[in-house]
Amino acid sequence: MAELIDGDIDADRRRRADEALFEVFASARGLADPNPSYRTLREETPVHLSGFGGVVLSRYDDCRSLLRDNRFGNGENSPGSAFGSGDPEAIAYRREMEARRSESRPESMLFLDPPDHTRQRSLVSRAFTPRRVEGLRDRVAELAEERLDDLAEAGTGDLMTLLAEPLPVSVISEMLGVPQSDWPEIRSLVTDVVVTLEPSANLDELKKAEVASQALWHYFTELVAERRADPQDDLLSALIEARDEHDKLSEGEILAVANLLFGAGAETTTNLIGNGINALFNHPEQLDRLWADPELVPSAVDEILRYDSPVQIDGRSCLEPAEAYGVRFEPGDRVLTLLGAANRDPEHFDDPETFDIARGREGRAEPVMSFGSGIHYCLGANLARVEGQEVFAGLIRRFSSIEPAGDRPYRQRLVLRGLDTCPVTVTPR
Ligand code: HEM
Repeated sequence: MAELIDGDIDADRRRRADEALFEVFASARGLADPNPSYRTLREETPVHLSGFGGVVLSRYDDCRSLLRDNRFGNGENSPGSAFGSGDPEAIAYRREMEARRSESRPESMLFLDPPDHTRQRSLVSRAFTPRRVEGLRDRVAELAEERLDDLAEAGTGDLMTLLAEPLPVSVISEMLGVPQSDWPEIRSLVTDVVVTLEPSANLDELKKAEVASQALWHYFTELVAERRADPQDDLLSALIEARDEHDKLSEGEILAVANLLFGAGAETTTNLIGNGINALFNHPEQLDRLWADPELVPSAVDEILRYDSPVQIDGRSCLEPAEAYGVRFEPGDRVLTLLGAANRDPEHFDDPETFDIARGREGRAEPVMSFGSGIHYCLGANLARVEGQEVFAGLIRRFSSIEPAGDRPYRQRLVLRGLDTCPVTVTPR
């Protein structure tokens, strides 16, 4: 069990920090805006041995150094199970589900430690080069354009269902080589599966996720067999071909990677788009500024990632006895990094509570923490940025204005933060 090296901190501070965490994890106010709680944690107990189990880090430097520290790993670390849902049945079901999967399927890189992680990531990144991603930009713009057509035709509608949800799944499907006729089915399976990332997932959601995960696995098993027989110019064929001097990816690893790309790249990018529109609606002067100066789009996308990160929580488990941040860790101890809190650390960002879409212009800003750090740094960061940039550039090109048309509640999620609905009205140019 993790313990402070220099004795305990005072009970009041510890209680306030636990209350702040409780607010983030379990209250409507915290879900709507976790930032006041993040601030309490960062200022009062930045290294917090929480009453929920696990050490919680909220400062930028601490989060970055933990994520880069190889004494801590992901192998035993499922973000969804870091804190239980509170329902013993759901917790037991999750354990069984994870045990079943680890017996029957190879893990994807996200849940591997070196040397297995190093080998798989290096083989996959060969097929995932920045050039390949940049080469996708025009196609991403076309796919965005199709969704913008839907939005233009509707005039008023939910930006999430019309644009933010379908686009990222289409992009990954296109990249992997999933035929367009299968995209709607894949999208609904992916939506059901990613809920396992959430500690709050209930029994029904977990059961649904399990069925969807098997269906997705089965789907890709068949598609891999097709591509093996008849390779195409797509990522799935490239993954089948990818090899280094020793070895190539096994069949199971290819399937695990295909699943991971959807799990890691779909809802996250959906939330980048939704959280971005939300931040702009909440700061109309920044919305007007962006529409008046579309060159600000790349910087605006990074500011959206910083200001309202699509991934709020990352973490690791301790792999060997370690001392860090004034804490003595034992193997198995959990550490959570609050990425959203790190992104508002005044030690790294001037005036961090201000949403300023020009912050990143001319390289003025620090890198955001939203994509993590170290060996698991998001493999899709460039792709996510390209998608975000093409969506906002497309919205500006197509519409002279975009306005809110109703409430924009957040989903009841902790790890992947995003809107449930986002009603908008657009005026075509
Ligand atoms: C705004 C959108 C996105 C955000 C905020 C995001 C965030 C993250 C974060 C925080 C991690 C690190 C997890 C860890 O440290 O354990 C990660 C890993 C990963 N992401 Fe993303 N991601 C986004 C989009 C994407 C996209 C579009 C893809 C691909 C299609 C993708 C693929 C991956 C993969 C494969 C990993 C695992 C890397 C590894 O374990 O080495 N992500 N992402």
